[in-house]
Amino acid sequence: MIEPRHEASGRKLRFEIFRYNPVDPSSHPHMDTFELGETPYMTLFIALHRIREEQDPSLQFDFSCRSAVCGSCGLLINGRPGLACHTRTADLPDTIRLHPLPVFKLIGDLSVDTGSWFRQMAQRVESWIHEKVPFDPKAQEARMDDDLARAIYEGERCIECGCCVASCGVANVRPQFVGPAGMNRIARFMMDPRDERTDSEWFDVVSSDEGVFGCVGLMACHDICPKGLPLLEVYAYLRRKMLAKVMTPLAREAEPSKRQSSKM
Ligand code: SF4
Ligand code: FES
Repeated sequence: MIEPRHEASGRKLRFEIFRYNPVDPSSHPHMDTFELGETPYMTLFIALHRIREEQDPSLQFDFSCRSAVCGSCGLLINGRPGLACHTRTADLPDTIRLHPLPVFKLIGDLSVDTGSWFRQMAQRVESWIHEKVPFDPKAQEARMDDDLARAIYEGERCIECGCCVASCGVANVRPQFVGPAGMNRIARFMMDPRDERTDSEWFDVVSSDEGVFGCVGLMACHDICPKGLPLLEVYAYLRRKMLAKVMTPLAREAEPSKRQSSKM
C-alpha cells in the first residue's frame, strides 16, 4: 500500500462505492467501503484517484480534463447526478455514496458508456447543419445577429456529461426518449438560420412522446446540469414552436366558420 501524500484536514470521509464488472461472470453488484482523510479543496475526482492509488487499483471510473470540460466524470453522488471533478467533498456529508449514472450502459464500477448514447442521439436528430445549396468554399461567411449567435453558443456549451439524461424520470423508463441533451441539440439547430430544415421536418423529429411532448415537466435536468444550461427554456422554446406549427393551420381552418357565424 502507498503511503498517503496528502495532509489531513480533520474529517474522515467514508466512501460507499458501487462495484460490478459486467464482463466478469464471477462479479456481482455490491458496495465497497473506503475511508479517506479529507484534505483542503478536495474534490471527488481527487478522492477517487487517491482511493485507486492507495487502496484499490481495480476501481473503475472515468475522467480526463479535471475541469468540467470533457464531460467524462459524471456519476451519482448521494443519489444526485454530478461531475466528480466539479464536486468538493466539503459540500458533502461524512458518508458519500457513489453509483454509476443510470440510463447509460455500464462499463464497470462507476464507468458508463455515454459516448454510444450521444452518438445514437446525434444520428437520430441529424445533428449537423442541413443546407439545400451545395457548400461554396469561396463564398463569404454568413453574418449572424449577435444575440442569436449567443443563444446558439449557449446550446453548444453542453459537454455531453449525461447528468441531465440520468436525472430525467422519462429517460430512465423510456429508452427511445430523446432526452434533455437531445432537446438542447435540436433547439440549437432549430434556431440556426443556416439550417434549412422546416418546422414540418422538425415536427416529425420532436412532436411525439419520444420527443418534447414525452417530457412530464419534472425539470430535474435544469436543476442538475453542471454547466447551467437553460434546459427549462429549451423545452419551452420547442413546445412553443411545435404548438405554433399545429395551431396555425387549425386557426386557419377555423377562420371561414367564424366568418360564417358572424354572418348569421
Ligand atoms: Fe451535461 Fe448539461 Fe449537456 Fe446535459 S445539457 S449533457 S447536464 S452539460
Ligand atoms: Fe472532465 Fe470531469 S474530468 S468533466
